[in-house]
Amino acid sequence: MKKIKLSENLELSQVVMGCMRIADSNLTENELLDLVEKCLDMGVTSIDHAPVYGGYTCEKIFGDAVLRKRPELRDKMQLITKAGIVCPGHYGNKTIYYKSTKEEILKEMDESLEKLGTDHVDLLLIHRPDPLADPAETADALETVVKQGKALNVGVSNFLPSQMTMLQSYLNIPLVTNQMELSVKNTENFFNGVVDDAFTRRIPLMAWSPLGGGDVFKSTDEKFVRLRTVLTAIAEEHKTTIDAVIYAWLFVHPVRIAAITGTMNADRIQKAVDATELELSYDEWYQILEASRGYAVP
Ligand SMILES: NC(=O)c1ccc[n+]([C@@H]2O[C@H](COP(=O)([O-])OP(=O)(O)OC[C@H]3O[C@@H](n4cnc5c(N)ncnc54)[C@H](OP(=O)(O)O)[C@@H]3O)[C@@H](O)[C@H]2O)c1
Repeated sequence: MKKIKLSENLELSQVVMGCMRIADSNLTENELLDLVEKCLDMGVTSIDHAPVYGGYTCEKIFGDAVLRKRPELRDKMQLITKAGIVCPGHYGNKTIYYKSTKEEILKEMDESLEKLGTDHVDLLLIHRPDPLADPAETADALETVVKQGKALNVGVSNFLPSQMTMLQSYLNIPLVTNQMELSVKNTENFFNGVVDDAFTRRIPLMAWSPLGGGDVFKSTDEKFVRLRTVLTAIAEEHKTTIDAVIYAWLFVHPVRIAAITGTMNADRIQKAVDATELELSYDEWYQILEASRGYAVP
């Protein structure tokens, strides 16, 4: 498995296991433990969480099934979690909102550690930019969790380059990644400055919903029908599956992209692992881009 270095004390596996769907998967505790062990065996050692996944349940499901049963697995994995989304009803609130105050981040950090069954995560991300946040306060919170040893590294998710620059300007530690939607479904972040910004900072990106949340396989929209036609032809050429081609489309990018899988199916996660060895030509990369956008570059 290829590793992606984010800092002196953090390397992620290029394929990251995402835990957003573990509550919906209805896996038993033993089945979830078995899936995590299979991932570790495949070299998928990085695991992505957030407090809000599964309506605030996924971190605890993982902690109960994995780390409270097999605490020795903790040192074999890199845990990522996030902070700063408040779902409706959580504090009696009517609407979802983003909150990156110091109080909220420190509280969410402690709750995540408790639920996951660990004393630290390897990476804490601000989940989404909070338009009401004072960046000095958010930076103070991030430095505090690192000083306390509760998070070894910090980063962001869904941040524009300018938002990252602003937050970084208040921080004495580096933001080590930006976790963004990047896929053959959503190609926009390749062209709006997000990738350029990552290169400028010398940091890798993490791609969420790399299979477009499954739309690439199921949707009958013209865009996805067009994409499937091109992906199938390229997959046949490489004697592989369309899932592997979709992941490879991200992995061949020199900015260094770690893709977070969403499936709870080990065979489907294996397709992502296979893709780390798959080379795509410039022509194939552009054929997929063109199929996604519906037009050729000028
Ligand atoms: N930072 C953020 O704001 C953010 C936002 C969203 C997600 N995330 C992270 O990204 C992770 C992945 O997101 P995602 O779940 O949307 O990822 P995804 O991999 O794009 O989509 C997963 C969906 O695709 C389906 N799928 C996978 N392979 C398939 C195949 N061969 N045929 C048909 N369907 C297939 C899965 O179904 P099966 O389960 O049946 O295989 C699942 O429903 C999450 O777990 C989370 O950790 C982060």
